[in-house]
Amino acid sequence: MIQLIPLFTYSPIPYIIATMDNELTVRIESLSNLGYGIARADGAVIFTEGACPGDLAKIRITGRNKTYYNARVVEVLEPSPHRVKPFCAMQKVCGACQLQFIDYDYQLELKRSVVEDTMRKIGGIDIKIHNTIPSPQIKEYRHKIQYPVAQTKVSKRFLAGYYKSGTHEIVNIKHCPIQPEICDEIIDFVRENAFVYGISAYDEKTHTGILRHVIIRNSVSTGKNLVVLVVNSDKIPPEVQRFAGALYEAFEEVSGVCVNFNTKKTNVIQGKISKCAAGDDFIEEKILDKTFLIGANTFFQVNPKSAENIFRYVKDYIAENFEKPVILDAYAGITAFGICVSDTCEKVVSVEENADSCELARKSLELNNIKNVEIHNMDAGEFFAEEKRKFDAIILDPPRKGCTKEALDNALRLAKGKIIYVSCNPATLARDLKYLTENGAVVESIQPFDMFCHTYHIENVAIVDFSRNI
Ligand SMILES: C[S@@+](CC[C@H](N)C(=O)[O-])C[C@H]1O[C@@H](n2cnc3c(N)ncnc32)[C@H](O)[C@@H]1O
Repeated sequence: MIQLIPLFTYSPIPYIIATMDNELTVRIESLSNLGYGIARADGAVIFTEGACPGDLAKIRITGRNKTYYNARVVEVLEPSPHRVKPFCAMQKVCGACQLQFIDYDYQLELKRSVVEDTMRKIGGIDIKIHNTIPSPQIKEYRHKIQYPVAQTKVSKRFLAGYYKSGTHEIVNIKHCPIQPEICDEIIDFVRENAFVYGISAYDEKTHTGILRHVIIRNSVSTGKNLVVLVVNSDKIPPEVQRFAGALYEAFEEVSGVCVNFNTKKTNVIQGKISKCAAGDDFIEEKILDKTFLIGANTFFQVNPKSAENIFRYVKDYIAENFEKPVILDAYAGITAFGICVSDTCEKVVSVEENADSCELARKSLELNNIKNVEIHNMDAGEFFAEEKRKFDAIILDPPRKGCTKEALDNALRLAKGKIIYVSCNPATLARDLKYLTENGAVVESIQPFDMFCHTYHIENVAIVDFSRNI
């Protein structure tokens, strides 16, 4: 869910353009944190879908809020020089790659300036944000794809794809250029064969049917895939078991098929429990010189090649600034940061609430013959509150919602001098940095990495120093 943190605090909108469907001509000035082109008319702010900064466009008002309007482009009268033809034929209908019609270098600069704006407006932090580090791969970069499935009413044909923007209507995607090509083939197999095996697609309106989502976790280093079939059941139905076996046999690139149980009426894709139905219940991924195990229910960064740049950046920062430090890796997932930096540390302590992630992290430690990493399977807040040791640096990589104030207070208490805050949400990062700076910390640097190419999302690493405080 998108965090609603007000980035724009303008006065109430004038009513002069308030009529829905009203059309007007505007120049797009900049990009919003959610990827909309920002224009102004009669002092009002208008967030315009599908608009590139620099465009002169005829737009149509599609919605109104207390302080701003929403609109969409009707016609581009003078295109921005940064407009390009999207490489995906489905870009407009699918809605996943909001920025694909903007050249890649300009996407990077727009994201950098969005981060700078967000830090200033939410965080009160006036800092020059470094240039965005591009993704080494801008096509076929996704490690994880998750498609909802549905069935047509009459022919019972299976559909699988992304939801059309703002709806639960599935766009039946035959080819998605931002994910490895093998994923198209696996999804096609599901479309063509699920019904033949007697599987029904889940209908969220009636809460009936079996197959809800198909998830593929792809390893960029081995080319292998773990397929997860999310079912509306608390055990593996026989038809799903048979289908999982057939899917496993059909592709040498599929190293395992798991079934995830989700019987709730919810938009949350996966349930907490998965069971292996064929092959292995993990894939191996290589990042820097380390091997990681990734399972059906564990977090892993969406873009492994870009993530590798982030892990290297954090590792280099630690190596350059500390002599054999003791590091805390909080919100650790499969302890990706902890394992990557372990060579340069005296000790790494990792904390993560997901038990499957901790179990796979322990196996990865064995696989890499690493002895100096300690893993705690618990809530980070509870760990922080109980922990007595001090750490030379703390890596914080929380989910999109960021950290609680209590967690930040405890991080300040436990860190001897630096917090390395890794975030996929500039708004909550800015909020948390504001809190840390109000408590004596100084933001040393913020480095954006383009993890989610062609979308408005952006990953950042903020280095926070409060050694002057101790
Ligand atoms: C953005 S991911 C980062 C994972 C890891 N650092 C990486 O790079 O792969 C956030 C992780 O925090 C975990 N998490 C969420 N809330 C938590 C909490 N309260 N305590 C501990 N871990 C939590 C999630 O399970 C997830 O693995």
